[in-house]
Formats: sequence, C-alpha cells, structure tokens
Amino acid sequence: MSKKFPDLISAEQYFHSKLFQKKDVRIVRGKGALLYDENGNEYIDCEAGHAVVNIGHSHPKYIEAVKQQLEKLVMISPSYPVDVRYKLLKRLAEITPPSLNQTFLSNSGTEAVEAAIKLALAANRDKKKPEIIAFKRAFHGRTLGSLAMTHNMKYRKPFLPWLTQNVKFASFGDIQSVKELLNKNTIAIFIELVQGEAGVYPAPYDFVKELRELCTENDILLVVDEVQTGFGRTGKMFGFEHYGIIPDAMCLAKAIAGGFPMGAMISSEELFERMLVGEHNTTYGGNPLGCAAANAVLDIIKEEKLVENAARQGKKILSNLHQLAEEERLIREVRGKGLMIGVEYRIKVKDLIRKAQEMKVFLLNAGLTIIRILPPLIINDSQVSKVLEVMHNLFL
Ligand SMILES: Cc1ncc(COP(=O)(O)O)c(C=O)c1O
Repeated sequence: MSKKFPDLISAEQYFHSKLFQKKDVRIVRGKGALLYDENGNEYIDCEAGHAVVNIGHSHPKYIEAVKQQLEKLVMISPSYPVDVRYKLLKRLAEITPPSLNQTFLSNSGTEAVEAAIKLALAANRDKKKPEIIAFKRAFHGRTLGSLAMTHNMKYRKPFLPWLTQNVKFASFGDIQSVKELLNKNTIAIFIELVQGEAGVYPAPYDFVKELRELCTENDILLVVDEVQTGFGRTGKMFGFEHYGIIPDAMCLAKAIAGGFPMGAMISSEELFERMLVGEHNTTYGGNPLGCAAANAVLDIIKEEKLVENAARQGKKILSNLHQLAEEERLIREVRGKGLMIGVEYRIKVKDLIRKAQEMKVFLLNAGLTIIRILPPLIINDSQVSKVLEVMHNLFL
C-alpha cells in the first residue's frame, strides 16, 4: 500500500466519497447469519445489511437460482413478458390481500416510495394543491420526493429548497394530531408501521386501526412503507398483518431479493388504472435476474419457516432484554417486533457497538443512543444466546 493509504480500509474510505464512515474491519465472506473477516474471525451479523439479508448470506438455493438465471437471461425491458417476472408478480399478489393485486417493480426502497407518491398524485389529478401526511421521525428515503416525507433535519437540511412544502408531519401514534392536519387537499398518509431508522418504534395497535378508518372515511390513501418491515422481519410476512388492516398501497425493498437491488410498490388495479402508460417507469425494474433472486427469497422464507423463526427468536430476545432493562439503569427502553429490535440507552452507544464487535457481534446504531438488532431471520438458538450474552456484557 502507498503512504497515502496504509491499508485497504483507508484507501476505500478515500475513493468512496466521504458519505460513509468505514468500519475498521474487512469482511470477505458470509454464510448464514455469520460474517468472516480477512483474518478468518467469525462474527454474528445483527445488521443483515440493514435488514436486507433475511435469508442469510450465501444461501445455496439463492446462489443456484441466480446462477441459472444469469446463464439464461439477465435483462430485458419490462415490456417483454418473461416467466420469471410473471412468477414473482403472481406470488406477490398471492401473499398480499386480494385488493393489492398489481405491482410496480423498482430498484430500491426510495424508488418504491416515489412510485407510491406518484400513484397518489395521479389518482388525485383534480386537486390543485395535493398534500400528504407523514410522521415525525419517519424515514422514507433520500431522493427528493421520499426525502420530503423523511422527517429528520440531518437528512433534509441542505436540500430544503427543493423539497415540497406539501408534506405535513403528524405525531406518530397520535390520531388527534393527524386529524388536525387533515384537510380537503390531503391525498394520502404514509406510515412505517415500525419506524426503523428512527430507532425501532412500533405503531400502537389502536392508532393504526383509527388511521385506516380515517383514510377510508375521507377517501385518502393509506400507504404503508414496508421497505424495512417486509418479508418476515417483524415476525409476520408484512407489518400490516399485526394490525388487521389492509393498506391501499405498500412499498417494499431491502429483503425482497436477498441483496440484489430491487423494490416494489404494490397497489390495486383500480389505482394503477389512474396512471397512464409512460407516466412512470424505470429501466432495470423487473429485470429477470432480480426476479429470479426474489423468487428464491420467497421459496426460502416459506420452506425454512423464516417468518415463524423471526417471531420465535424475536420474542426470546425481547423478553430477555426487557429483563436486562430492569436491572441495567443505563437502558432507557427496549422496543421491537420480531427480529426488528431497538435498545435505547441513556448514553451514547458508539463505544458499546465497538465493544460488541470485539466480542464478535455486529450491532447497528440508530442515532446516538439506540442500538438496533436486525439479524438474518435464519439466526439459530445458539447464535441468539451468544448475541444476548454480548448484550449483557456490554458494560463489563
Ligand atoms: C422504511 C424505509 N423506507 C425507505 C427506505 C429507503 O430505501 P433505499 O435505501 O433502498 O432507497 C428505507 C431505507 O432504510 C427505509 O427504512
């Protein structure tokens, strides 16, 4: 290595722009819920690429499915019907409520959210100044439409001149605050049923029920952003299943294709009909390789009962950490659903995460004081025990 770059980590830090702060570990491969560094050290991965690798790393069935498709057909425009895409679209329709029967395939979560914003706007062409209600603490992405609904100033500030003023932020969990913002221009409410990036805040049950009723009564769209909660993460296939509601549209990404970049916006035929051909599209959306990856993910989730495992392991971790919180004064709160877990501390968590890494567990922060635990859904009993042991030993 040169003088300027004593090692590969600092070299990558330089060439990769300054938008990322690099960790001081070089991961070379993954297997299941485990990651391995260049020296052969083994870590339990409780980040899962930010809730992406739900089926675990390097799953043999996933590799085989992607390989086979790679040899057949990687890319063809969405105008050409292909079996592998049809199979995925049909399956998405089957695992969602009957009213959510059509899908737009994108390449990321933010694009799925952008598509839902455009769907809501296209369905309300008559409104002169259409408004959307989003929530305080919400994270919906970083492109300019989704960023307008992302609440944290840390992400918004330099871009405010280009962000629409037509998004109003209600307090999460407070139906009265939603009612106060609702007016004749409101076209949609966007919600994460478990706010993820903010630090894992599950929405209260009654609040979501009331939100659904409010949207129906006022003829506005309820859009659930399941980019992070989707595909078993919360112990149900989708987060809305915890609440017994059916949204008008949902946004998916992250785990959908096991790490292959893909997003999806699912809604009804009736709403999609309000958008005209060409009013929305993307070159790579629905490419056969991504569809093969997503089909493999759905197979693995079903065959290996990963939703059930997420519910079971999540319950175990949560109950253990709730107990720990009773003994450990520095823990302010433990929250979560399934394997989407947040532990809020009374101190900054940077050093705790570092210590966990030394004990061979990767944890993820949310802001300064929250640790997130988001392992692959295939995590097993002994790996969960090890993660809990590390969580108990963070202050030793
Ligand atoms: C709830 C939610 N929506 C949207 C996004 C944006 O997804 P992407 O990073 O794939 O654009 C994220 C990413 O963390 C998210 O958590």
